[in-house]
Amino acid sequence: MPVPQLLVLFGSQTGTAQDVSERLGREARRRRLGCQVQALDSYPVVNLIHEPLVIFVCATTGQGDPPDNMKNFWRFIFRKNLPSTALCQMDFAVLGLGDSSYAKFNFVAKKLHRRLLQLGGSALLPVCLGDDQHELGPDAAVDPWLQDLWGKVLGLCPLPPGLDEIPPGVPLPSKFSLLFLHEVPSVGSEGQQVAHPGSREPPSESHPFLAPMISNERVTGPSHFQDVRLIEFDISGSAISFAAGDVVLIQPSNSAAHVQQFCQALGLDPDQLFTLQPREPDVLPPTRLPQPCSMQHLVSQYLDIASVPRRSFFELLACLSLHELEREKLLEFSSAQGQEELFEYCNRPRRTIVEVLCDFPHTAAAIPPDYLLDLIPAIRPRAFSIASSMLTHPSRLQILVAVVQFQTRLKEPRRGLCSSWLASLDPGQGPVRVPLWVQPGSLAFPEMPDVPVIMVGPGTGVAPFRAAIQERVAQDRTRNVLFFGCRWRDQDFYWEAEWQELEKRGCLTLVSAFSREQEQKVYVQHRLRERGPLVWELLDRQGAHFYLAGNAKSMPADVSEALVSIFEEEGGLCSSDAAAYLARLQRTRRLQTETWA
Ligand code: 2AM
Repeated sequence: MPVPQLLVLFGSQTGTAQDVSERLGREARRRRLGCQVQALDSYPVVNLIHEPLVIFVCATTGQGDPPDNMKNFWRFIFRKNLPSTALCQMDFAVLGLGDSSYAKFNFVAKKLHRRLLQLGGSALLPVCLGDDQHELGPDAAVDPWLQDLWGKVLGLCPLPPGLDEIPPGVPLPSKFSLLFLHEVPSVGSEGQQVAHPGSREPPSESHPFLAPMISNERVTGPSHFQDVRLIEFDISGSAISFAAGDVVLIQPSNSAAHVQQFCQALGLDPDQLFTLQPREPDVLPPTRLPQPCSMQHLVSQYLDIASVPRRSFFELLACLSLHELEREKLLEFSSAQGQEELFEYCNRPRRTIVEVLCDFPHTAAAIPPDYLLDLIPAIRPRAFSIASSMLTHPSRLQILVAVVQFQTRLKEPRRGLCSSWLASLDPGQGPVRVPLWVQPGSLAFPEMPDVPVIMVGPGTGVAPFRAAIQERVAQDRTRNVLFFGCRWRDQDFYWEAEWQELEKRGCLTLVSAFSREQEQKVYVQHRLRERGPLVWELLDRQGAHFYLAGNAKSMPADVSEALVSIFEEEGGLCSSDAAAYLARLQRTRRLQTETWA
């Protein structure tokens, strides 16, 4: 009898939806179901009409948009000409992952659920609303939902006679086996797939460009609390091109110290070469890994050993552990009852995979290398707003990077992987190359030359606006208003001299807010209110576009509030009309936002 097939399709931005999908895949295999797990955009969407059983796992990004790897699917599924019976053979369920602090909480999952019903699909369950804001993360909603889901699925596809579920303590086979090579091949052991200078294809995630770093300069004053870097890359010959608002994706590596610690804990030889053999026919080795590959390459450039481990890590580690005491603890961390304790041990202090492995030394030393890629997620690229324009800096690409470092109750400070790695690179000490590629961001500047723009970018939020101002000034578009906020004029006022020069030339109106130079905090939204008449005149009379970029905490909401009060005071609108005015600006893309955590 053929094995019943379950299809899990995900749209993932930060990796959580992919992680949950892989968990679904493992849970399906424990129930003797065949299961394929794929990103929505890698699945040939027309085949959906033949699928009997599909679970969709979709994140919603900040502004209610679908993640990048389901954008094509999203366009397809909302085509007007799809018949209302297109999916009448399909049982489906939608698992959403979102953040209830955003207005459009789980918008993508809810909208997809409705659309699948419209197309004739039968829902097995109501939408699952996973919430990042929950103390225990999305699992608080996902766990009970999955229990219901498996109840329904086993009703449709019962276990084969005589077979039970594979119990949680028994490991499933690994995705790959690592075949160790005992002879060093003569070519290609470290050669990552990269886009070479002169290639006409723009670089991409599977073929990044190894960009020479030209400079890496601290731009905050010596007494400032934060190390912020202006980093410049040489992109000549790369076929990269970008416009203001685009972002660069950077593929970081682990620190040498972490790599060494990890290899030591697991007893791995960094020089060992291996090839990856998939155990199942539809699984491909990651394109980012060369074949053959060294352990050093795998650990330093692929495995995200400095990330905070997810629950699935503990589940698998418990299965692999041969040490009674450690196994008991790991089983507790992977159980539903152990989630609060796991949160206190791992998530709250941001404990990393390397640190956890050092806490479970017997288990770590006995991990079969075949399981490394099941156990540890891949390092994900990080996006940075591009801070320069090709019109003023041809063959160059600049970014402004705040080096993330903070303290928890653990002794070692926590460090952001990518920003710390970038900050550690010193082109003065010898050539440095960084894997990168470029993508459109969420900001697009007006094509019509006479449209004025208002930009609000406190802190590193000013980065995309530097690109926009350079680009616009180079095109003789001089109606640019920038609201910039920082703590101190002499510590973190990025590009002060450049702005002054542009003001002198009549190409920029700069309004600055120095938050700590007086007793009361002064922020960009206070300056916006002070300049209410100008903002109203530009938006309402002159059709200006309004842009906001920066830290996502409370700044975007504070700026929106300031705008609404300007519409009330300057435009004489009542509060509901002022709110509707703001919503209209958003809908017509005359108000655009790019925020980051
Ligand atoms: P603060 O650190 O003194 O509170 C860039 O980080 C600037 O943004 C700093 O001057 C910072 O001020 C300010 N900032 C902090 N919270 C903000 C908010 N909610 N809205 C606008 N600016 C904010």
